[in-house]
Amino acid sequence: MSEANDHIVSSVDAGVMTIRMNRPDKKNAITGDMYARMASAIDEANANDDVRAILFLGTPGAFSAGNDIADFAKVAMTGKRDSMSVFDFLERIIMAPKPMIAGVDGLAIGVGTTMLLHCDYVVSSEASMFKTPFVDLGLVPEAGSSLIGPEIMGHHKAFELLGMGAGFGPADAKEAGFVNRIVASDALEETANGIAQAIAAKPVEALKLSRDLIRGDRTPVLKRMQEEAVLFGQRLESDEAKQAFMAFMSKG
Ligand code: COA
Repeated sequence: MSEANDHIVSSVDAGVMTIRMNRPDKKNAITGDMYARMASAIDEANANDDVRAILFLGTPGAFSAGNDIADFAKVAMTGKRDSMSVFDFLERIIMAPKPMIAGVDGLAIGVGTTMLLHCDYVVSSEASMFKTPFVDLGLVPEAGSSLIGPEIMGHHKAFELLGMGAGFGPADAKEAGFVNRIVASDALEETANGIAQAIAAKPVEALKLSRDLIRGDRTPVLKRMQEEAVLFGQRLESDEAKQAFMAFMSKG
């Protein structure tokens, strides 16, 4: 298990690797280091035959507030990227060979929502809020969401979520098709863990073949993520984005 004070904490139990985002003072906003740690944890899970499913969790009230905006602002102001680990992480969840489950309580913003589109099963608490304010930040959708989002929820809902930045509550997200089940906040982790363990207990080869058929070829999603990344990188240095980042960072 990782150190308790790490921003990413991973552990393996009953065939499930749990990867927890653990930076509650910043609502689990994700830094380059956190993306790198999650990518390594997924690599470990993929290399370990004892791990048959991956479970993503946040902390009470915050699954994730999305990419760390201070990191975005650094790129916007200097043009320099300290790390490209976000792409290592996104590639791994797009191409993931093992089932991924997420348990969401509270905020799921930006990549906190788009990563769910790649999961196989999502449990939400009654207190969750899913939102991707890309356009309001001067940005464009990421993580292949511009392709997979409309496939999952249809154009109109995808435009509302990914284009307009509308907040979706748990019922909206379930209706849109990227949440399977809604439970009370205090039952969230136990339920998500139980589902992950049930998936991990299935006959492994049959599940892998079935999941591969159901998910289909993910190469176009990977390609879309890379296309989005080019635009996203350009947008990070736009005046619209710089103004939005400064407004967020200067709020009292
Ligand atoms: N990046 C960096 N820091 C973030 C963050 C982010 N994405 N989201 C939250 N934080 C920080 C806040 O700056 C604050 O830090 P401080 O205590 O040092 O001032 C702390 O986390 C708590 O956030 P706060 O805004 O006080 O909580 P809230 O409950 O009032 O609002 C949010 C929560 C998530 C609605 C709000 O913080 C927000 O809009 N965050 C930005 C989300 C976003 O746009 N993400 C990028 C998507 S592409």
